[in-house]
Amino acid sequence: MTSPGREATPDDGRPMAIVTGAARGLGLHLAGQLAGRGLRTICVVRNPLDTARLDGFGDLVRPVVGDVRDAAVGRRVAREVGEGAVCLLIHNAGVAHPPRTLGELAVDEVLHSFSTHCLGPLRLTQALLPALRRSPFATVVHVSSRRGSFAVAAEDDAPGGKHYAYRIGKAAQNMMSLCLRQELAGLRIRVVAVHPGELRTAMGAPGAPDTPATAAADLVRMVLTHPQEGLPPFMVRAGDPHPW
Ligand SMILES: NC(=O)c1ccc[n+]([C@@H]2O[C@H](COP(=O)([O-])OP(=O)(O)OC[C@H]3O[C@@H](n4cnc5c(N)ncnc54)[C@H](OP(=O)(O)O)[C@@H]3O)[C@@H](O)[C@H]2O)c1
Repeated sequence: MTSPGREATPDDGRPMAIVTGAARGLGLHLAGQLAGRGLRTICVVRNPLDTARLDGFGDLVRPVVGDVRDAAVGRRVAREVGEGAVCLLIHNAGVAHPPRTLGELAVDEVLHSFSTHCLGPLRLTQALLPALRRSPFATVVHVSSRRGSFAVAAEDDAPGGKHYAYRIGKAAQNMMSLCLRQELAGLRIRVVAVHPGELRTAMGAPGAPDTPATAAADLVRMVLTHPQEGLPPFMVRAGDPHPW
């Protein structure tokens, strides 16, 4: 489902990018950065009413409405791509739940996080593999988090509730990213997991040091200008390695 009132954009041969969770926060800024660099950009947005937020980015940006946990999203995006080539797929959609003790934890929260950060992106990449292969080379970015790092979690031994859902979901996303990286390297598709920084978004802390605008600019610059070889498998947004 594309947003009403938008005419189909002909496949003009431009490189195509896809961003999930583009209604706000980092994803919205990623969409603006990509369109600003001349890429046709398909944005997965959950709420149809939010597609209007993309209007200011011009005709290069097109919304696809859907929840990344729904398998139908892959089919919708693939239909929108048509016979085009996708050079960049950014799995950005994310959800956070508060810290919980084991007694408080609703296990469905873990399933929600796992579906959003791991299963949904895995299905979407699967649906778009033919389009990624049509690009001379392509990049798949998993916007992960330092909270998905075992090394970081092991340092945080404070008693009390834990971010079970978020950490488990992001750790699963990291492992999925590594498996895909190893499998797809031979197809000229590089796959990376990225910690974007601590951002002042709805999900981030109010006093977080970075803006989503800065993070999006850094991430897009790094991905589009870094040589195809040599990006670490898990990194911070400017390209330095992050511990697993
Ligand atoms: N903010 C930080 O400090 C920080 C730190 C490390 C990593 N990250 C990661 O960075 C990414 C972007 O986060 P953000 O800070 O920009 O958060 P945000 O402002 O809360 O935005 C999250 C976006 O993801 C979308 N989304 C959530 N679940 C979805 C689903 N099932 N299907 C489709 N879209 C969905 C939301 O859509 P709705 O608008 O419909 O809710 C929203 O557009 C996330 O993966 C997050 O884990 C953020």
